[in-house]
Amino acid sequence: MMIEYSKESQTFQLQTDNTSYIFQVLANGDLGQVYYGRKIHLKSNYHNLTTREIKDATVSWKVDQPDIQPDVLKHEYSVLGSGDFRFPAFQLTFANGSRVSEFKYVDYEINTGKQRLPGMPSTFDDTNDDVQTLTINLTDQLVGMDLQLHYSIFPHQDVIARSATFINHSNDQVVIDHAFSTEVDLPDANYDLIEFPGAWARERQLNRAALRLGYQGSGSLRNATSHQANPFMMIARHDTSEDFGEVYGFNLVYSGNFLNQVEVDQFQTTRILVGINPTEFAWNLGPGSQFQTPEAIQSYSNQGMNQLSQQLSDFYQDHIVNPRFSQQPRPTLVNNWEGTYFDFNEDKLMTIVNAAHKAGIEMFVLDDGWFGERNDDTTSLGDWFVDKNKFPNGIEHFVNQVHGLGMKFGLWVEPEMISKQSHLYEQHPEWMIQTPGRHQTPGRNQFVLDMTRPEVVDYLFKVLNQIITDTKLDYIKWDMNRYITEMYGIDLPANQQLEMGHRYILGVYDLYDRLIKSNPDVLFESCASGGGRFDLGMMYYAPQAWTSDDIDAAERMKIQYGTSYGYSLSMMGSHVSAVPNDITGRTIELSTRARVAYFGDFGYELDLAKLSDDELKQVAWQVEFYKRYRRLFQFGKFYRIESPFAGNVTSWQVVNDDQSLAIAGRYQLMNEPNSPYLRIKFKGLHPDKQYRINDSEEIFYGDELMNAGYFIPNILKTMKEQRLRTADFSSQLFVIKAI
Ligand code: DGJ
Repeated sequence: MMIEYSKESQTFQLQTDNTSYIFQVLANGDLGQVYYGRKIHLKSNYHNLTTREIKDATVSWKVDQPDIQPDVLKHEYSVLGSGDFRFPAFQLTFANGSRVSEFKYVDYEINTGKQRLPGMPSTFDDTNDDVQTLTINLTDQLVGMDLQLHYSIFPHQDVIARSATFINHSNDQVVIDHAFSTEVDLPDANYDLIEFPGAWARERQLNRAALRLGYQGSGSLRNATSHQANPFMMIARHDTSEDFGEVYGFNLVYSGNFLNQVEVDQFQTTRILVGINPTEFAWNLGPGSQFQTPEAIQSYSNQGMNQLSQQLSDFYQDHIVNPRFSQQPRPTLVNNWEGTYFDFNEDKLMTIVNAAHKAGIEMFVLDDGWFGERNDDTTSLGDWFVDKNKFPNGIEHFVNQVHGLGMKFGLWVEPEMISKQSHLYEQHPEWMIQTPGRHQTPGRNQFVLDMTRPEVVDYLFKVLNQIITDTKLDYIKWDMNRYITEMYGIDLPANQQLEMGHRYILGVYDLYDRLIKSNPDVLFESCASGGGRFDLGMMYYAPQAWTSDDIDAAERMKIQYGTSYGYSLSMMGSHVSAVPNDITGRTIELSTRARVAYFGDFGYELDLAKLSDDELKQVAWQVEFYKRYRRLFQFGKFYRIESPFAGNVTSWQVVNDDQSLAIAGRYQLMNEPNSPYLRIKFKGLHPDKQYRINDSEEIFYGDELMNAGYFIPNILKTMKEQRLRTADFSSQLFVIKAI
């Protein structure tokens, strides 16, 4: 049993293979947290862990229950207004204007498995992976409302998924002012907060800082999870490293405004709240209706951050990503965006397709500019009809040629957007999100469609479904290139305007769901000017995402390294760009560009027809190499070795399940003349297995490679042998094979 209930102490003990999560019903009917961390033995009572000292100068529940001091307790789903003065997990406003809730424990249910949440991305258990779901029922009798707290235990990946449902049985309207998805109250604050802030072209950079008193954390008010913040965060002990120490991970299965808030209080306890951002949110819960929060997932390891990332990655593939694609090898591709931008026609694209075919690339992706009259970014979004100037014979003619070569075909769309210069805008200006009478702020010359309107979603479904069918599409890149301004729903009453952000993203999910159900074999990639919506909500529908618009290999070391903490390799689209790179102006050897891009869903984003014969030969070799080890690069166990956030060198490694094959990449930024002797310590090998490295004559035991390390030949010398001018941005790949 993963969920044990002790009647004696009314304690719930949730156990995964390696962790315990314990909470209990308190004497006043509230739920109090007891413990979350490394697995401990089940007991009927944890007197010691639940002992409280009575504090002066704070309120107690009752005169005769002085030890129930809400501000001192660790709560399961905290409430404002009754003595816990920290930020609460939820807040409601009732018909009489009161904001005091009293949800008291009623009973619980345990079910096997995990059902999907309707209309929203969520965790699931399709594989009978020993999952159990606990629902705790609480009620507030005065106002006639129920609250359900859900806990799904995924034992083998050490993950717990949590969410809450508010049910209004009363005859009155209740306003949910905010409702987080999970709360964890830790008993001390000796932790670092590790987050992944960024910017466009510089997504998910590692940021680690010790917790301090007060509020900290990050979130988004951009109506997307954003480039600037990511819902994945970790709370780790100060000495936790990649391979040692305690670390908690949190993530939200959601793509809209979110908040990860960490509060260290007067007693040095730590409250963690993860969910929809309370700012710009409220939900009107009419009589008889209910509100379901998105799910948050939480996980713990006492073996460092590599272990945490690995268990999360396993979890995503089994319980978040569309099962049709979770283990499906992803095709190598060439995308024409940076190769042509808007300047292409069928003939020009065919030169790229033919070069790609020759090089063994499996898919061609036609990016922005194929529809309407879109020769730059000022027009046509919403007019999802082929541009006959670029494709005089129709798009099907072009696609047939691609398919005829045995290649797959992918297409770019940006469904949520509208250009003012478009037929769609002429016909339906009211479909654009706007606040009446206010200025309309463009972003990349474009505006946003109101995805809360069913007729908008219906229209998009119809036109996109038609394109998918007509072109026998294999893959869709769904882009979203601006954040929402002047958010307002012209059909919504004034008191529901704060529902817009959540309703918008539910509309996006609805469109995804309908397109996927009608076209189960089409692989979706999500994109938002690169990695502006790189989150688990998107990953539920689109198993992979465009990691960043920045394809410069040196920048990608950081972006991919940062992303790998909270996401799987197969989720990261990673391409080779032309040089000098369009964003950084940097020139990096083709070999290094590919060696960085191998670790993810590999492709090229350049005009292959412009490469020299030598370069094309190299590309063909790279594609062949990648295909040979594709499963490892996409689904292998990923280890971070040396961090680009710490210095000049980055290294990382993937290992297969039986530890018979591993590939490590090592990259340096600047060349260091007369450098010290260098060694790389590989990870995740079998200590007793014997390996060769890059077909070396010498044979190494795994324990030698992991503990003593592998001597790295002098890079400058090696480069000279290759007659290259500089060893800046040089790289090495180590293919480690058991004999
Ligand atoms: C932003 C994306 O991130 C790029 O890859 C490309 O698809 C452009 N949009 C096209 O407009």
